[in-house]
Parts: sequence; C-alpha cells; structure tokens
Amino acid sequence: MAEIILGIESSCDDTSAAVLRDGVLLSNVIASQQVHKDFGGVVPELASRAHEQNIVPVVSEALRKAGIQADDLTAIAFTRGPGLLGSLLVGTSFAKALGLALEKPIVMVNHLQGHILANFIREPDKPVKEPQFPYLCLLVSGGNSQIVKVNSPLEYDILGQTIDDAVGEAFDKCSKMLGLGYPGGPVIDKLAAEGDPNRFHFAKPNIPGLDYSFSGVKTSLLYFVRDEMAKDPSFLENNKEDLCASFQKTLIDVLMGKLIRAAKETRIREITIGGGVSANSGLRRRMLEEGEKRHWNVYLPERKFTTDNAAMIAVAGWFAYKAGVRTPLDVAPVSRMADF
Ligand code: KG4
Repeated sequence: MAEIILGIESSCDDTSAAVLRDGVLLSNVIASQQVHKDFGGVVPELASRAHEQNIVPVVSEALRKAGIQADDLTAIAFTRGPGLLGSLLVGTSFAKALGLALEKPIVMVNHLQGHILANFIREPDKPVKEPQFPYLCLLVSGGNSQIVKVNSPLEYDILGQTIDDAVGEAFDKCSKMLGLGYPGGPVIDKLAAEGDPNRFHFAKPNIPGLDYSFSGVKTSLLYFVRDEMAKDPSFLENNKEDLCASFQKTLIDVLMGKLIRAAKETRIREITIGGGVSANSGLRRRMLEEGEKRHWNVYLPERKFTTDNAAMIAVAGWFAYKAGVRTPLDVAPVSRMADF
C-alpha cells in the first residue's frame, strides 16, 4: 500500500503544506506572509496570527492538489523546531489535532534536517540527482550558517556554525542599512549581478576551526558606507551595484573558505547546500566552480526548495516514518536547536 505523508511547515513566516506519495511530491503549497514587509523583518506575533489564518486553507489546498482525502494519509510530519515558538505552535498543534482526529501517527521533524535533505525531493517525471551518504551540507539561512556532515537521513554532525549572526541576517541587515528593503538576500543578489565584486574590500573574520562569524563583515560595510557618505552624499546611490557585488563576494569567500577546509579535513567530496541563502546566484555559481576545480560532486537544490517549504519536511518525515519514528501527542515545539 502506498505511503502518503502530509508535511506541515510553520517555523517562521511561511505557512506550507505538502503531500508526498512513496517519496514522490504530489503537492507543495506555500502561503508567504506579506504583513512583515513594512517592518523590515519578521514580527513574531504577526507571524503566529497569520499562520493561524493560513493553516486550514493551505492544508486543504495541498490535499486537493494531490488528489487525496485526509483519510488516505499514512502519517503527518510537522516542524517541531527550531524557529519562532508562536509560529511553531500553530503547525504543531494542527498536526496533533489532525493526527488525533484521523487516528494517524504524527512524526516530528527538525527544520534544519528538512533543509539538509532538500536534494531528496522528487517531483513526478523529473530526474533527481541524490547525494551519497556521508555528504557535507552548507546550511545557510536567515537563522543558521552551518557546515553539517550528513551521515544518514536521520543522523548528522554539525562541524561548524556561526558564533554570531547568520549569513542571511548579514544580507538582511545590510540591505536594510543601505535602504534596499527586506528580505535583503534577493535584492542584494539582483543588484550584485550588475556590479563589480572586486571594487571594494571588507574585513573578513579570522575564526578558528570550522566556525563562522558575520557580524564583522556587516560592521565593516556600515563604517565604510558611513565614511564615504560623509565625503559624498550620493556615494550610496551611485555605487549600489558595486557595493552589493563586493559585499556578496566577501560573504561567499568566507562561506566557501570553511567549506573547502571541511571537505579537505573529512575527505568528503559529496557537497550540497541548503537554506534560503542557497538561492543566491553568486553562491550557486561558486559552488559549481569550486566543485569542478576540486572534483566534488555538487548538488544544488532547486531554487523553489531552498527557502522554507513543507516538501522538505514531508521528505524528512518520510525518512523518519520509515525508520519507525512515531511522536507522542504530548510533544511541544522548541524554539532553539539546543533543545531539540
Ligand atoms: O531558509 P529561509 O527561507 O528561512 C529561515 O531563515 O529559516 O531563509 C531566509 C533567508 C533570508 O535571510 C533571505 O534574505 C535569504 O534567506 N535569501 C537570500 C536569497 N534568497 C533568500 N540570500 C541571498 N541571496 C538570495 N537570492
């Protein structure tokens, strides 16, 4: 009998539901919240309220698009954390209630595990190149910057991570500072394509081991722009593209430096990326270039599966379901990775 998994994702500001049949994606519905745009960042209380409004229509639409009834489901996978607690509560409570009503098992998923398994999302009639275990995943989003060694679908080691800001935060905060809007990653990515990445130079962190730091690069850009603006008030407007290209290149250099080191130290050549920042054109290009140079097998998830989505939660949930994971109904969401 077919195994049909419903995935539910609500960790931040996207309400998403997906249906997977025997590992093949039948639907993936995402409601992105627009309420945060005016605030230059996600407002947790508004995010929870929007999830509460979106969750029923989003799940109904995912079932409808997949052409199945709720009763056909084998299990319900949901994001337990990490993320915004109020947002996670909506998805977790919904999954628990649905599981109870349908008498179907629920399976909790770590959001980060979803991102690192995004290369296993199979769409009907689309060939997919899956990485071999163990592989390295550069996990880069608004909340995380990590190098993860993925030993199996359910087992992984974090080899390095940021000690301050996540790289997505650096994109977002700098974009806000330059008056370019939120979320900053896509805007900077677009402007960077028109600019000279070697025009300006920003301080790079010197952190031991495989850990990252991004707060210094951010401050370096801030002071540089402030000083230049004092000399020429039109500096920012006239140099936006070059500033974005140079800043983006600095972040990519930092990310790739540690990833190359991790690949050397672990002797792993299966390399993937995941998380919102893995949509970045410059980073994707550099991954392919380094892969070619260093004889890596590089796997880039499709752009639509880089930002938060329930397809990756359904895939991670399916792996967990097959491994016998069943989550009790008294489960509560957790906001931090350390509590997982
Ligand atoms: O994974 P995600 O959707 O949410 C979590 O943080 O969990 O990632 C969002 C982050 C934001 O910081 C956004 O600016 C960044 O991903 N992002 C990008 C791009 N698209 C999204 N950063 C750089 N280039 C992009 N094209």
